[in-house]
Amino acid sequence: MGKVPTKLVSWDDVVEWSRGLAIKIKESNYRPDVIIAVARGGFVPARLLCDFLNVENLISIQSQHWTEAAKAADKAIIKFAYELDLSGKKALLVDDIVDTGESLMLARDFIMKHWKPAELRIAALQWISPVAKLKPDYYYIEVTEWVWFQYPWTRLEDTFQFLKRMLSEESKYKAEWSYDEIVKKFYEWYEIDVGETYFKDAIKMLIEEGILELRNNKYYYKSS
Ligand code: ADE
Repeated sequence: MGKVPTKLVSWDDVVEWSRGLAIKIKESNYRPDVIIAVARGGFVPARLLCDFLNVENLISIQSQHWTEAAKAADKAIIKFAYELDLSGKKALLVDDIVDTGESLMLARDFIMKHWKPAELRIAALQWISPVAKLKPDYYYIEVTEWVWFQYPWTRLEDTFQFLKRMLSEESKYKAEWSYDEIVKKFYEWYEIDVGETYFKDAIKMLIEEGILELRNNKYYYKSS
C-alpha cells in the first residue's frame, strides 16, 4: 500500500462548487421535484442544491462502494432498500464525486426499477472522467487525473485511515514516534494540512482502536 495523491477540499469550495452546479442545472431548464442524496457523500451537496434550486423535497438512498479512504471494496450495494412511489416526479440524484461510477449506477438502476420517477438525472460536484463508467448529466469539475479528494465531511475518517496506512508502512523502519514526527511524516505522504484538531482526534481514535500505543509520550504502532 503506497502513498495516495490527495487534495484538501474546504467548506467554501463545497459551497462554491454546489452553487456552480446549481447554475448549470438551472441553465438546462431541468426543474426537479425531488432531490435524492446518495448517502453519505451526496448529503451536503444535495442539501445545498435544495437551497440553490429552491427544492423542498429531499430524500436519500445509501449506495456504497468505497469502504475506506482511497481503497475500493469489491462491489457496490444498496443498504436499507425501501419502496417508494415517485411516479410523475422529476428527480435529481446527487453525489459528491463520480469516481468509478459504480455506486451511482447501482442507485440509478434501483431508483428506476423500484421508485419509477418520470425522469431521473444525475449531478455530482466532480467527475473523474478517465476512470468513470458513467458521465453525470451535470458536474461542476472534470478531474482528468485520479486524486483522493479530502472532503470536509470525511476529514476525521480519512485522517484516521491515512495515518493507519502510513504508520503501518513506516513502522517497518521506525518503531517509536513522537507526535511531531507523525505530523511531519503525514505531511510528506499526503501533502495536506487537516489541522491540529482533526489530527489529535484521529490519533486518539487509533489508540482507542488498539492500532497505536502511547507510552512515555511516544507512539508505537501495534501490528495486528
Ligand atoms: N469517493 C470515491 N472516490 C473518491 C475520491 N476520488 N475522492 C474522494 N472521495 C471519493
